Amino acid sequence: MEKTFYITTPIYYVNASPHIGHAYTTIVADVLARYHRLQGYRTFFLTGTDEHGDKIAEAARKAGESPKAWADRVSAQFRDLWPKLSISNDGFIRTTDPDHVRTVQYILRKVHEAGDIYFSDYEGLYCVGCERFYMEKELVDGKCPQHLTVPEVRKESNYFFRMGKYQDWLIRHIQDHPDFIRPERYRNEALAFLREPLEDLCISRPKSRLTWGISLPFDDNYVTYVWFDALINYVTGIGYPDDEKFRTFWPAAQHLIAKDILKPHGIYWPTMLKAAGIEPYRNLNVHGYWNVDQSKMSKSLGNVVRPLELKDKYGLDPFRYFLLRDMVFGLDSSFSEEAFVQRINSDLANDLGNLESRVRTMAVKFCQGSVPEPERTAADRTLPEAAQKALAEMEAAFAELAMHKALAAIWEFINTVNRYIVTSEPWSLAKNPADKGRLMTVLYDLLEALRVIAVMISPFMPGTAGKILERIGVAEPAAQTFETIRSWGGLAPGSPFKRGDALFPRVEFKSEEKAAEQKDKKMEPLKPEISYEDFEKVDFRVARILSAEPVPKSSKLVKLRIDIGEERTIVAGIAKDYKPEDLPGKSIVVVANLKPTKLMGVESRGMLLATDAVEGLTLIGFDKPPKTGAKVR
Ligand code: MSP
Repeated sequence: MEKTFYITTPIYYVNASPHIGHAYTTIVADVLARYHRLQGYRTFFLTGTDEHGDKIAEAARKAGESPKAWADRVSAQFRDLWPKLSISNDGFIRTTDPDHVRTVQYILRKVHEAGDIYFSDYEGLYCVGCERFYMEKELVDGKCPQHLTVPEVRKESNYFFRMGKYQDWLIRHIQDHPDFIRPERYRNEALAFLREPLEDLCISRPKSRLTWGISLPFDDNYVTYVWFDALINYVTGIGYPDDEKFRTFWPAAQHLIAKDILKPHGIYWPTMLKAAGIEPYRNLNVHGYWNVDQSKMSKSLGNVVRPLELKDKYGLDPFRYFLLRDMVFGLDSSFSEEAFVQRINSDLANDLGNLESRVRTMAVKFCQGSVPEPERTAADRTLPEAAQKALAEMEAAFAELAMHKALAAIWEFINTVNRYIVTSEPWSLAKNPADKGRLMTVLYDLLEALRVIAVMISPFMPGTAGKILERIGVAEPAAQTFETIRSWGGLAPGSPFKRGDALFPRVEFKSEEKAAEQKDKKMEPLKPEISYEDFEKVDFRVARILSAEPVPKSSKLVKLRIDIGEERTIVAGIAKDYKPEDLPGKSIVVVANLKPTKLMGVESRGMLLATDAVEGLTLIGFDKPPKTGAKVR
């Protein structure tokens, strides 16, 4: 029987532009899709945008646009982003697509006719941000836990889906299918929801309040609740009810989401499917949240990380690699650019990049431009065995969605190959004509190891994989599936090498502070030269501050009494950087023979020396206590 794999991402709301969180889910889905294609599965990968509801209508209103025009624009931002991140989705669904509208109405009619949708009054606490009613106990300090706003009281007659009816069925289904929701922590979370009585779900909004939605097929005064509409995308996208794609890919569906939308996917969606007479999806795969420097990403904090900026700065494959390597699937992770740069330099530039360039340089030098014929009798089993071990570990890791472990297994193999170069010493073998056969075998094995590595990394870094394969002479890189690396020796002798630059140039991390320092390092142009005699005219002295007080009506000036061998008053512009009470007792350097001048009505006899600190000003000081009144030379 044909193996099939259907992977979906959430359809993203079009009220905000894509950020690293959206990119992460979609890249994970892409890695899974590519992996399964290379494993011989017929695969369908669906993503898209969620365009109806209050939130979108509100964003459009604020922008002075129609909801449709707004949705068209933001949806296009998502659609256009994905190719730039090498996302290989087969479908892109919009909830405003006519076929989706038809499918939602078809399912609503079906469930209504079966008696699972009824009309009733409802009063409750409603969060506009979440587009849902909250139960009192779900609120934190009376506020929505997501938006930290107080929900409004709303009373409405509405249509309800008999979700409660399916509670026992759902509990049993989750218990009978232990990986239905995974990892386990989220399965437990879903079961915890289900320990309380499951209420029916309000699935309509009166048009008097909201018109931006799909009309209920049995009451034109209402539109469909946005979650009831949105979840159905997963079956519309593969042509439910009649399309061949639906029969092929359902119910082998793998949904991928973050923990924020566990409840609609883990509770609403399976019960909706059950009521509509559709089999439940196969797995709900739930990942954690990317935070930024330990805090939640938000527009108001100004810490939203944009995928294209990172891709443009560091390259696409490093970006994809980092996201998959640094997040343990299911747990939260904190994004840091510094950690990203470290990964590029150590894992990519050092381990993989160096390996590729060393092997190719030796191959070019010792093998006349093409893959050599190995002398099998002398074959060493180190690399073939390590490759099979890595492949097995990688496959086991994918089966439990532990992509970071899959990468760790590949990198263990990369390091084995790096060590193999050191122990087999091709450069020494090259010195002795009697070792020629052995040398060719070693080099063949190193090149074959690069092919295996390229196939294994290709779901994560398709561009890099393609480059490696091309450079070692693989004629048809796209035909390199996992089947081709189950046995050693797939690389054809005689294939010509191609040249190429370093796969991953090393990068330097510049924190904002460092970048600012470097900017400052550019020396300001000097003033015209002076003679020593000119310099001698300036009389610098060490002074001790006796007292300090602010100059009235000035935010910058401080009046200082100083001891310079005699007592004097000077005025200095340091009020923003030093409090008057902190100044007495400090030793400073003063230009003592400057012509007196009046500043804000106070006569100043001398000028103190200060310079720019990293922030604000700093007084020029001493590293040993100086003699008050001494000349500065
Ligand atoms: N429109 C709904 C989903 C409907 S699916 C039938 C929605 N949209 S959303 O734009 O808010 O996207 C939420 C999803 O974006 C998360 O489940 C996750 O996949 C991704 N992420 C958004 N922020 C994220 C992080 N900070 N970290 C990781 N993923 C995040 O909810």
